[in-house]
Amino acid sequence: MLREKKNGRLYFDGCDMVKIAEEYGTPLYVFSENDIVSRFDELKRDFSDKYGNCRVAYAAKAFCVKGMLKIVEKCGASIDVVSGGEIAVAAAAGFPADRIEFNGNNKLLPEIEQAVSYGVKRFILDGTNELPLIESACKKYDKKVNVLVRITPGVAASTHDHIVTGKLDSKFGIPLEDDVLYPVIKNVMDSPYTEFKGLHMHIGSQLFTNREYMESLEVMLSVASEIKKRFGAAVSELNLGGGFGVTYIDEERKPVSFFLDPMMERITAWSKEQGIERPLIAVEPGRSIIAEAGITLYRAGQIKNIKDVRKYVSIDGGMGDNIRVPLYDAKYTGIVANKADEPCTEVVTVCGKCCESGDVVAEDLPVPESIKAGDIIAIYSTGAYGYSMASNYNNNPIPGAVLLKDGKSAWLIKPQSYEQIMENQVIPEWL
Ligand code: LLP
Repeated sequence: MLREKKNGRLYFDGCDMVKIAEEYGTPLYVFSENDIVSRFDELKRDFSDKYGNCRVAYAAKAFCVKGMLKIVEKCGASIDVVSGGEIAVAAAAGFPADRIEFNGNNKLLPEIEQAVSYGVKRFILDGTNELPLIESACKKYDKKVNVLVRITPGVAASTHDHIVTGKLDSKFGIPLEDDVLYPVIKNVMDSPYTEFKGLHMHIGSQLFTNREYMESLEVMLSVASEIKKRFGAAVSELNLGGGFGVTYIDEERKPVSFFLDPMMERITAWSKEQGIERPLIAVEPGRSIIAEAGITLYRAGQIKNIKDVRKYVSIDGGMGDNIRVPLYDAKYTGIVANKADEPCTEVVTVCGKCCESGDVVAEDLPVPESIKAGDIIAIYSTGAYGYSMASNYNNNPIPGAVLLKDGKSAWLIKPQSYEQIMENQVIPEWL
């Protein structure tokens, strides 16, 4: 286990979290390189190597900084990006363009041009008006790209409503309507700038059951069969998206084989029925790669005890570095890192320093009774969608992040300064 208690303190990837907090300051995101690599290893062992002709594309939106993309590159994975900003980070990290796939329901023309000129070769078409934009960018740069068409399978995944993406009423994907979907596919096939590769789906995030995946896969395979019937062309690639659930409190994290084995079995059987070679299968996990590799360290400050109601422990960060509690009612747990051996005899609400009542990072954190100002509170599983959704609310700087590996540590992101917060602010000359 990369998270362990030693000498009364929390250790992560061989590093003493109290020392790290003292050395780098708080609030601070810390990331375990070994944890990240072990996730890619699992996918390699139980998916890509096991089945062959597979691709893992890390969903960069979960945590997209140069150092992270270096780790992804070293692990041999691709990335899924959704914006020009993510492409710029990838380019700055020297991430190979042919391992980037571009998702997004409203890719802007400048972003598409940026992608094409950088050499991105795989686009996930996610709108009926997107093809002309891709064509114009390809024409400009004299390039041809591969296209997968994202379908909306019409299956509602059981997770928080804000992170469901595959149901009928969704902004994502091309609807299954006969006179919408197939003309889009035909146009991609006919365009001199695009090669139709296959289909894409992503049904939601933080999922623990197979039902939605299998139901959506069935829809995807029926579309693929229809494509063969109508156009005589077999799909050569299917992208199953991401969404594999992780442990925040006590959710039982499932191995990737739990999700992927049944889908691979079904796809293999379907390919036989169709008399075609099994298409390349891609997945796009984000959260399951990085969530548990991240911990946020905070320093406790004010403590407010409302008799018979609740004890609030205020920390030096909050919704600016982790918006997931107010936004999704997300649950987190953690530990007082400098009192790791003390029994937890009370439950407190860990709240941030923003002027907002909903600014909470852990609603019911068990802590030792001795908790006091200056203690280091470590909140677990904050690696995904924490830094990537951080904000400067109340003009609090976005904290830095440190990469940990086998007891060593180094900056991954330096903390933002006040100057950086104000960098783009201008006072109009008439004021
Ligand atoms: N592929 C596509 C097309 C996606 O839209 C997403 C996530 C993923 C892959 C990766 O899904 P994951 O493996 O991370 O579940 N901000 C929210 C999550 C939004 C996910 C959006 N799409 C949160 O903090 O829970």
